[in-house]
Amino acid sequence: MEINVHSSRFQLCCLVILLCSPIIAFASSNPHEDFLQCLTLNSTNDTSISQVVYTPANSSYSYVLDVSIQNLRFLTPDAPKPLVIVTPVDVSQVQTTVYCSRKYGLQVRMRSGGHDYEGLSYLSGVPFVILDLVNLRTITVDAGNATAWVQSGATVGELYYRISEKSMTLGFPAGVCPTVGVGGHFSGGGYGMMLRKYGLAADNIMDAQVVDVNGKLLDRKLMGEDLFWAIRGGGGNTFGVVVSWKIRLVPVPETVTGFAVLRTLDQNATSLVNKWQFIAAQELPDELYMRVILQSYNGADGNRTIQAIFQTLYLGEADELLDVMGSSFPELGLTREDCIEMPWINSTLYFTGFSGQPLEILLNRSSNTKSYFKNKSDYVKKPISEPVLEEIWKWFFKADQGALQMILNPYGGRMSEISESAIPFPHRAGKIYMIQHITAWNNGSVEESAKGISLIRSLYGFMAPYVSKSPRSAYVNYRDLDIGINNEFGNTSYRQASIWGTKYYNRNFDRLVRVKTAVDPSNFFRNEQSVPPLTSW
Ligand SMILES: Cc1cc2nc3c(=O)[nH]c(=O)nc-3n(C[C@H](O)[C@H](O)[C@H](O)COP(=O)(O)OP(=O)(O)OC[C@H]3O[C@@H](n4cnc5c(N)ncnc54)[C@H](O)[C@@H]3O)c2cc1C
Ligand SMILES: *[C@@H]1O[C@H](CO)[C@@H](O)[C@H](O)[C@H]1NC(C)=O
Ligand SMILES: *[C@@H]1O[C@H](CO)[C@@H](O)[C@H](O)[C@H]1NC(C)=O
Ligand SMILES: *[C@@H]1O[C@H](CO)[C@@H](O)[C@H](O)[C@H]1NC(C)=O
Ligand SMILES: *[C@@H]1O[C@H](CO)[C@@H](O)[C@H](O)[C@H]1NC(C)=O
Ligand SMILES: *[C@@H]1O[C@H](CO)[C@@H](O)[C@H](O)[C@H]1NC(C)=O
Ligand SMILES: *[C@@H]1O[C@H](CO)[C@@H](O)[C@H](O)[C@H]1NC(C)=O
Ligand SMILES: *[C@@H]1O[C@H](CO)[C@@H](O)[C@H](O)[C@H]1NC(C)=O
Ligand SMILES: *[C@@H]1O[C@H](CO)[C@@H](O)[C@H](O)[C@H]1NC(C)=O
Ligand SMILES: *[C@@H]1O[C@H](CO)[C@@H](O)[C@H](O)[C@H]1NC(C)=O
Ligand SMILES: *[C@@H]1O[C@H](CO)[C@@H](O)[C@H](O)[C@H]1NC(C)=O
Ligand SMILES: *[C@@H]1O[C@H](CO)[C@@H](O)[C@H](O)[C@H]1NC(C)=O
Repeated sequence: MEINVHSSRFQLCCLVILLCSPIIAFASSNPHEDFLQCLTLNSTNDTSISQVVYTPANSSYSYVLDVSIQNLRFLTPDAPKPLVIVTPVDVSQVQTTVYCSRKYGLQVRMRSGGHDYEGLSYLSGVPFVILDLVNLRTITVDAGNATAWVQSGATVGELYYRISEKSMTLGFPAGVCPTVGVGGHFSGGGYGMMLRKYGLAADNIMDAQVVDVNGKLLDRKLMGEDLFWAIRGGGGNTFGVVVSWKIRLVPVPETVTGFAVLRTLDQNATSLVNKWQFIAAQELPDELYMRVILQSYNGADGNRTIQAIFQTLYLGEADELLDVMGSSFPELGLTREDCIEMPWINSTLYFTGFSGQPLEILLNRSSNTKSYFKNKSDYVKKPISEPVLEEIWKWFFKADQGALQMILNPYGGRMSEISESAIPFPHRAGKIYMIQHITAWNNGSVEESAKGISLIRSLYGFMAPYVSKSPRSAYVNYRDLDIGINNEFGNTSYRQASIWGTKYYNRNFDRLVRVKTAVDPSNFFRNEQSVPPLTSW
């Protein structure tokens, strides 16, 4: 890969100046006025661009800004606000927005579904523009070829719904929560209840359309295999704006089976979770995805107990499932009554608690209940012993009821067959499950937030000996700024970025840096945890 050192240094230097002192750099006393004018002048469709540009002077600015913010921690009056929000209705408006933001030194934060755990798609420490892709959500399903083109602003719920309109025996292996946006989700990997059978969403991408830092629209052929590799899991807001993705749909049977069996400590939860660690990834068939949700609960007697919920999707009928469970996990005591047979599309409602609601709820971008939360992730390579599980339960007993949750997501199956370097997402063979540590609260006061965040940080500290080490791996879509950030203004050192970078990408981090250096040497697309180019080492 050839790198023109001189011109990239020049660009970095100018970029820093523009960001630090936009008022000196431009004649106008109102830099974003220049930006707005640029949008209009550059627009190939100037009748419409003003209809998709919002500044604080527009009455709908706050609504457009807030509607897709999922984490209430960042929905506060004193959170940094964008100078402008652009919600393009066509790709040329994306190109114009990139061109004009760069020209006038405004940072771009692109947003698809707004689910970023740390709010990076709508917050920034420097003057910025939100490029909100909410209006770019066309989905074209080609059932005959089992492919689809999906624009980034669509949610995974919309995608599932559109697939089911065309075929009840096709599906897609992406996230459980229907409001998650395709743009951020695919950019970080994306997994759901078919992870063990079909891998990640990003493992099933065939082509993409990207607007690069120069405003050029590239498809797979034009962008080349390095950039195409990087956008499939190398993190959002880094390599360009991905406007659409061509995906490979996967076969699903006409009937799938779901269950959610709950066991408390009295019902042997500890030994069941222990046994689960040995079979969920390594023994059960790939068609069976059994994850465990751990939470605590005050019983009718007022005593606190642990609940382990074994939440499962089986790509097949209940009778087969009962056979498999009877031979591999009889201790769980699964019965026919626990099992619910349904079409795959109904299982997407089932796992979000929407069973019985019209399928159209998948199209509702506001169906998720928002809360204040901080989640972290860990990978487990060796089962955690029962005595340690009992130590973990103590954290649940100490916390307020409902404040803490852990979700154990098994890997194995297809995940172990794909090489660690096939796409940037590196967590493959050898990782038996991922833990998502979750703390949530409903009172936004400073004290309550501090309490929630401190709880999850100490639990994370406690878990260190029992999870992956060197690096302590993490999932980029469960973004966590505690594990390290870039310097402001993109002036990051390689060493500093590699701390969080190797946790998310392991050995793929270096290749991501090389791709970034080739496609965006001035680090125009960036956030607190975007892969930096070589020029800013
Ligand atoms: C309630 C909830 C449930 C979740 N469930 C799951 C789950 O089941 N499985 C799972 O794997 N993950 C899950 N996640 C995590 C989710 O995958 C990530 O938060 C994902 O990045 C969200 O994508 P988004 O488009 O909604 O978010 P956004 O906040 O819009 O974007 C996330 C990041 O990607 C960037 N980005 C957005 N659009 C683009 C684009 N078009 N091109 C390039 N970069 C872009 C943003 O700037 C930001 O950095 C969940 C999150 C939440 C809040
Ligand atoms: C201009 O935008 C309008 C409104 O979004 C759209 O209907 C029209 O097709 C666009 N025209 C061109 C030439 O892109
Ligand atoms: C926002 O206000 C400006 C100035 O009045 C106007 O031109 C623009 O159309 C408004 N934006 C929207 C989306 O209505
Ligand atoms: C915007 O205008 C400039 C020249 O003023 C041109 O070079 C550039 O290609 C235009 N960009 C877009 C996206 O229209
Ligand atoms: C597959 O796609 C091609 C090209 O779009 C189309 O001509 C063909 O009919 C499709 N095949 C099926 C089986 O639908
Ligand atoms: C718990 O496990 C013990 C020993 O394995 C078994 O005898 C008992 O029936 C189990 N209890 C429940 C409620 O499953
Ligand atoms: C509840 O906890 C108390 C104190 O540990 C104990 O004495 C009591 O037996 C428990 N009640 C039940 C129903 O388990
Ligand atoms: C699937 O879900 C739809 C919408 O809730 C419902 O009408 C239908 O009865 C469900 N089908 C089955 C077999 O459960
Ligand atoms: C979407 O879901 C939310 C929350 O459940 C609800 O308040 C809203 O009415 C729904 N919107 C539509 C259009 O159904
Ligand atoms: C992260 O935590 C929040 C709050 O509990 C929860 O709503 C969200 O679903 C969690 N993320 C996932 C992917 O489970
Ligand atoms: C939220 O918590 C703060 C302090 O922890 C408390 O003073 C306040 O009353 C709480 N608000 C609500 C609505 O519970
Ligand atoms: C960039 O980093 C270098 C080395 O750490 C430092 O000397 C310089 O002041 C930084 N520049 C900015 C703009 O932060």
